[in-house]
Parts: sequence; structure tokens; C-alpha cells
Amino acid sequence: MAHLKRESKTVLVRPLTLRDFAAWREGELGKLPRQSIWDSEPLQKSKLSKKRFEAIIAKQRAFRKDDRYHIFGVFEKATGHHIGYVSAMNVVRSVTQSAFLGYNIHNSHWRKGYAKEALRLFFDIAFTELKLHRLEAGIEPKNGPSIQVVKSLNLRKEGLKKRAVFLREKWQDLVIYSVTCEELGYSFRGNPRKGN
Ligand SMILES: CC(C)(COP(=O)(O)OP(=O)(O)OC[C@H]1O[C@@H](n2cnc3c(N)ncnc32)[C@H](O)[C@@H]1OP(=O)(O)O)[C@@H](O)C(=O)NCCC(=O)NCCS
Repeated sequence: MAHLKRESKTVLVRPLTLRDFAAWREGELGKLPRQSIWDSEPLQKSKLSKKRFEAIIAKQRAFRKDDRYHIFGVFEKATGHHIGYVSAMNVVRSVTQSAFLGYNIHNSHWRKGYAKEALRLFFDIAFTELKLHRLEAGIEPKNGPSIQVVKSLNLRKEGLKKRAVFLREKWQDLVIYSVTCEELGYSFRGNPRKGN
């Protein structure tokens, strides 16, 4: 899987493997209490078992194999700590060749430029190795930090999708920010005449 790995001075992006158990556990244990409604809930200590981690890795591998959902761990270069995820969700091939962009950084590492750096690396993987043409971020309009991330990466605002996702017992709107490979200087490598 070496082709699915990218690194910069500060972060490394690659799929998690079974060897990452200790880094994953340490990362989860280092999280602060939940900071906002968009922050992920820290896993309870009892849920940080090797068995559970193996199940997570198996699921991630199966999704990757199906070309449905490609999720990558983000690691801090200086410490080797696992500090979050970036992903291409809901991959659609055929004439669309797009995916939704996912990202989260452990709250103990916010505001260090890690999301921005990890996404820059991820764009390279998505437009070369995954051969996608378009990535779309769907963000709840009040999620200011996430909007700042896509703005600082110069994604294009495309509009508001009304009642797009069912979260917290309600249909929520999403503001869509997108990027296509050409905008970042990549030639499209996929085949829109093939696939689901
Ligand atoms: C959104 C999130 C990924 C940002 O991660 P991060 O590593 O702190 O972001 P970065 O440090 O790379 O910051 C990138 C840009 O956003 C800005 N930013 C980040 N958090 C901010 C905040 N709370 N308030 C204002 N600006 C913020 C930074 O200043 C930076 O802008 P700049 O490049 O113009 O200086 C993180 O807050 C998170 O995981 N949130 C919960 C999950 C989530 O909302 N995911 C997105 C779902 S759509």
C-alpha cells in the first residue's frame, strides 16, 4: 500500500494497519472531552481493545476493496501519534467519478494546521491513486472551523443543499464546497465509461 501514503514535514497520511494499534489507542486516550457537536465522542477505555481495533481495520479494508469508502489515518510526524482521519466517502464512478470529503482531527491537536496539511496530501492521493475527478465537502453552515478549513484550501462554494443529512434527530442543511482535479493541476486519470 506504499502508493497510498503521502507525507509532509508535519504529517503523514496512510491507511491504518494492524501495527497501528498502540498509536490508535494512545491517540484516543489523549482526546479531550467533546468540544462541539461536530467533534467525535471519545471512545471509552473499555472500547479500546485490540479486538475492536481489528474489527475497525477489517471494515476499513472491506470498504476500500469495494471502492465505496477510502479512509486514511493522519499521523503526527514528530511523535508518530495517530491524530485523525481524512476520507473519500460515497464514491460514485461511471460518469460521476466523485466522492464526499471527510476529515476530523483529534481535539487535542486542533489549530496546528494539521487538517489543512493532511487534506493537501489527501488530494494528491485522491486525484492520482484513487483516480477521482471531484471531491465535495458537505458542511453544516454553523460548523465555522470546518468552513475555515475548506476556505483556506481554496475549495469553491457551490451552494446550500437543503435537508441533506439526518443528524441529531433532524434533517440538516449542508453547504457544499468542491474541487475538481483540474483546479489543482491534475489530469483526470480514471475512466468515466466504466464502473457502477
Ligand atoms: C474542522 C477541523 C478538522 C479543523 O482541524 P484543525 O487541524 O484544527 O485545522 P487547521 O489547524 O488545519 O486549520 C485550517 C484553517 O482553518 C482555521 N481554523 C481551524 N479551526 C478554527 C476555529 N475553531 N476557528 C476559526 N478558524 C479555524 C485555521 O485558522 C486555518 O486557517 P488558515 O489556514 O487561514 O490559517 C477540526 O476542528 C475537527 O476535527 N472538527 C470536528 C470534526 C469536523 O467538524 N469535521 C468536518 C466535518 S464537515
